[in-house]
Amino acid sequence: MRTLNDIRSTFLSYFEKQGHQVVPSSPLVPRNDPTLMFANSGMVQFKNLFTGVEHRDYKRATTAQKCVRAGGKHNDLDNVGYTARHHTFFEMLGNFSFGDYFKTDAIPFAWELVTRELGIDKSKLYVTVYHTDDEAAEIWKKTGVPEDRIIRIATNDNFWMMGPTGPCGPCTEIFYDHGDKYWGGPPGSPEEDGDRFVEIWNLVFMQYEQFEDGTRRELAAQSIDTGMGIERVAALLQGTNDNYSTDLIRSLIEASANATSTDPDGPGKTHHRVIADHLRSTSFLIADGVMPSNDGRGYVLRRIMRRAMRHAHLLGAKDPLMHRLVPALVRQMGAAYPELGRAQALIEETLKLEETRFKQTLDRGLKLLDDELAGLPGDAALPGEAAFKLYDTYGFPLDLTQDALREKGRTVDTGGFDAAMAEQKAKARAAWSGSGEATDLAIWFDIAETHGATDFLGYDTEIAEGQILALVCDGVQVEALDEGAEGWIVLNQTPFYGESGGQVGDTGLLRRLEDEDDVAAVTDTQKMAGGKLTAHRVRVDRGRFARGEAVQLEVDHARRSAIRANHSATHLLHEALRRALGDHVAQRGSLNAPDRLRFDFSHTKALTAEEIAQVEAEVNAFIRQNSPVQTRIMTPDDARGLGAQALFGEKYGDEVRVVSMGTLSGSGKGADGETYSLELCGGTHVRQTGDIGTFALTSESASAAGVRRIEALTGQAALAELRGRDKVLSRIEETLKVSGAEVLTRLQAIMDERRALSNEVQQLRREIAMGGGGTGGAEAKTVNGVQFLAQVLTGVSGKDLPPLIDEHKARLGSGAVLLIADTGGKAAVAAGVTADLTGSVSAVDLVKAAVAELGGKGGGGRPDMAQGGGQDVANSDAAIAAAEQVLGG
Ligand code: ALA
Repeated sequence: MRTLNDIRSTFLSYFEKQGHQVVPSSPLVPRNDPTLMFANSGMVQFKNLFTGVEHRDYKRATTAQKCVRAGGKHNDLDNVGYTARHHTFFEMLGNFSFGDYFKTDAIPFAWELVTRELGIDKSKLYVTVYHTDDEAAEIWKKTGVPEDRIIRIATNDNFWMMGPTGPCGPCTEIFYDHGDKYWGGPPGSPEEDGDRFVEIWNLVFMQYEQFEDGTRRELAAQSIDTGMGIERVAALLQGTNDNYSTDLIRSLIEASANATSTDPDGPGKTHHRVIADHLRSTSFLIADGVMPSNDGRGYVLRRIMRRAMRHAHLLGAKDPLMHRLVPALVRQMGAAYPELGRAQALIEETLKLEETRFKQTLDRGLKLLDDELAGLPGDAALPGEAAFKLYDTYGFPLDLTQDALREKGRTVDTGGFDAAMAEQKAKARAAWSGSGEATDLAIWFDIAETHGATDFLGYDTEIAEGQILALVCDGVQVEALDEGAEGWIVLNQTPFYGESGGQVGDTGLLRRLEDEDDVAAVTDTQKMAGGKLTAHRVRVDRGRFARGEAVQLEVDHARRSAIRANHSATHLLHEALRRALGDHVAQRGSLNAPDRLRFDFSHTKALTAEEIAQVEAEVNAFIRQNSPVQTRIMTPDDARGLGAQALFGEKYGDEVRVVSMGTLSGSGKGADGETYSLELCGGTHVRQTGDIGTFALTSESASAAGVRRIEALTGQAALAELRGRDKVLSRIEETLKVSGAEVLTRLQAIMDERRALSNEVQQLRREIAMGGGGTGGAEAKTVNGVQFLAQVLTGVSGKDLPPLIDEHKARLGSGAVLLIADTGGKAAVAAGVTADLTGSVSAVDLVKAAVAELGGKGGGGRPDMAQGGGQDVANSDAAIAAAEQVLGG
């Protein structure tokens, strides 16, 4: 059998033989396109190559690209599980030419791969071309496709666009005929939507770039972008037309069936299919750094997760299911996508947490949905407000509600839902504004194109000379910046570190070599053009800085030293956390500023005091070790082989920088001599860990769902923090005459005891209020045929009365209750009447009568429960008598 993994490698090695660079899949979160939610095709990572703003040292590439289509233009979520070929996650195989070969080669390549390498029967194949594309039709003919199998299509089916903007062009597609056991006709025929003829490969002739205003421009270079659906090809090679019956996805369906002890092909078939698909998209998204949240990408992830969870629920799964299926996915896809295995602990933990949290609201929401439906006539659509309530209160995304209704043949009034949602949507859209990198994208790529990348000298030196290559003011290139002006300066080389990887940009000075009194202050440093350029944000304090001039660059040394210490401490902290809490600890963000450091990491629980103390002590131990900090440049694979901790989803070049520090010795936590911390990192670090000085952890808190945040200090600031703590402790020790450790133990014991006592007091209060000993105490008497219970209570307040009234009502079954609380001379009153009696007597009347006797005014509520108050609790007996009179006694 041709497995899916085998098809992937056949494709990549065929194009490698044809001179293509095998490029790894880009992360699902596009780094170069803030307008796109997820990578939805192979060409996304090459967008800037097609438009010509970026060049690389290859002109042909081939990839297997992870894709997610579950939002925006290509939203397939609703159909997934019910059809043979819809997925939220899929892999797209592609070959790309960037201004290199065009149609004449792309078509024969495709034909050879399909018919020879994959051995697909020619007699089953059809192709389409855009109706005006005679050239493509001619090439197909020459390649050996009979004329009657070349179909001209005039619609947008043969014009491909990645989204509302970006590179696009006419295309030609290859179709496979699954035979007459399926209904359907060839493309372009009225039956083309059937299941018989299936598109397997799309070859796009990239000729245009589409802009937001709807206009298009012709691209300078003619390029090729292709996309083959690996799941479809696997299906036909495995003798089926159902992607879900192919080896890889089938194994996930079986894992789902095993875990729920159900039949993979039984009545729960659709549920297993949904789960298998959603397992792939959720796991890959988490591995690429997306976390479930309420807007943007995180919300799409949450929608997919919750949809899968409902289907698990329908299979009868009582406990969280999805996280148990991750090992099966890693077994299948971990070799081709190593990021999956690296993130396994995080994926499992994130899925489990979301499933656990959603479970209760899922049950309640489904019940509400059933109740709503039961109250509707016939097959009426669910009102929009009900769907919105499910969304708002129970966290049911609209598509989850629709999915649930679909099985019952019902729909939602989406107009009503949209109206209710409009405001939230606007908020989500505002939050989803991209990285902002695009603002000046073109200008920085232009500069990089003309002058090449900036050489970074800052690992070795903080002072250097450089030549001004470009100046930017208000978004345009200028010849010079005059005294007083602010703008950006790009030089051929620099020791200034541009903000990246959580490390803030350097500040410092530029001096003109011709006249050293001419000075510009560097207030920030940023990386531009995808990291190629380092741009210095400057304010000219004296003189004029012009293109071509030589300057001296001086980094603010004290500030940079503090940043180094914080950045190195962050690495030690990361490792200490991983060892203390587990392998699921992965960096979710960091800040390395001169005055502090911040580290966000995946972990679901607050750290205990012991864990915090342990982590702080361990970081300090490795600082005292004073071992040299080593940096090495190597291939990403070698780095991972060494066990380097990488940021998920980060894109690395051919070479990575590995920073290591600390050596294990006799700690019992690893082999002697083993490196302690090993990370891929481009930042600047101390030379010896001892240079960090001291480390003090100042706070630990939640930063987002499943993410904790630690803030800490190093050096002098840490020392001051620790001294402060020490002073407080010394005073406590002196006063109590015991050691600090003893103080902690006693404090803990006191707090435990306090909690126990407070529980006990609450319980006693209730018992006293109810008449003591839990026997019910206070006796009801019968007044005019109604059971009436009246009581004066001490030690309770007015707000304690309603729950007590409810309890008494429940105990009586039928009757009236009057409770008066003595609140230090004054009185709080509440009355209750059981539902069967509210027709003849009202709690409001009882309260009003009692309040009048107690020297109060008014009182009010509902017939079954009312409240009031008075000035004089001494008149309680009269108040009770007045209430009895209301009852007719
Ligand atoms: N980008 C093209 C597609 O996704 C190949 O179909």
